Amino acid sequence: MAPMFANDYNQTMPRDIASTSAGFGTYSQEELFRRIGALKKEMNALILAHYYTVPEIQQVADIVGDSLALARAAEKNDADVIVFAGVYFMAETAKILNPQKQVLMPDAYAGCPLADSCPADEFRKFKESYPDAIVVTYINSTADIKALSDITCTSSNVEQIIRQIPPGKQIIFAPDRNLGGYISRKLQREMILWQGCCYVHDAFSEIYILKACLDYPDAELIAHPECQEEVLRHAAFIGSTKALLDYTVASTAEKFIVATEPGILYEMQKRSPQKTFIPAPRDPESPFSVCTQMKQNTLEKLYQCMLNRKPEIVIDETLRLASLGSIKRMLEMTPG
Ligand code: 13P
Ligand code: SF4
Repeated sequence: MAPMFANDYNQTMPRDIASTSAGFGTYSQEELFRRIGALKKEMNALILAHYYTVPEIQQVADIVGDSLALARAAEKNDADVIVFAGVYFMAETAKILNPQKQVLMPDAYAGCPLADSCPADEFRKFKESYPDAIVVTYINSTADIKALSDITCTSSNVEQIIRQIPPGKQIIFAPDRNLGGYISRKLQREMILWQGCCYVHDAFSEIYILKACLDYPDAELIAHPECQEEVLRHAAFIGSTKALLDYTVASTAEKFIVATEPGILYEMQKRSPQKTFIPAPRDPESPFSVCTQMKQNTLEKLYQCMLNRKPEIVIDETLRLASLGSIKRMLEMTPG
């Protein structure tokens, strides 16, 4: 059967997803690169970008990483200004760690529906039902939720953090039920799960994943733990975005079906040009499961936000201090 996807990510992704900024707006891509580079020096700015952003944003960033790497980079740097090309909770975390620095975002409306699925008033009531539980919260959450939490975590360090909680201690895990369920099964540790999920990862269905495995019998299926259990059970490897990337470099396999946001394929292909990466299908009509919020970061918006120094992240100091504790605890429990 003819392959559903080629391995040339930029050519096979729909243009509005693969490259939302190139060729649009006032300046060419080359001119935007030049202007952003000049502003970066002038402002002493650090540009951080998540692996799920469009390739040209990854090209212009100083550091491209997963949520944990970016939180660490935001904590330790000599920049005066942090420009965060990701989603809101990531830039907010950078601001919580750096009250003295200006933190900018190309598009302040780039939110995370997973974070939004856990409103603070409902979570407070939920937490009251388990007064003895320790609250471990995925970094994909609002500052209000972090303020109600004991420890923040990311998909890179969740296992390391849960392992440090004494056996017998009740654990509430929020907001991603798939990540929480995966760790709970892996560590055989009962956890009380908030029932949120990431629409991008939750959209992969077992039937289409199995079909892709049949179409590409020589490919290894690798998956992010935000996917459903039915998908994870078929994966040769499960890990955070960074762990998946490292796995594709280290593995002897030549072909991979990648069940996570397809933005990471850009870096995977860059690190292993000889290997083939197939984005896991969501369904026949929508073969890519894309985070549209991450793709709201365009080169043009990145340039404009640096030029105008807005949108800027502003956080109330009481809330900042209340949410800082759980982030600091994460960084102390999993030093980089
Ligand atoms: P990681 O960056 O920890 O892999 O998380 C994936 C994600 O969904 C980020 O929003
Ligand atoms: Fe949120 Fe999912 Fe997008 Fe990550 S990929 S920002 S969890 S919606």
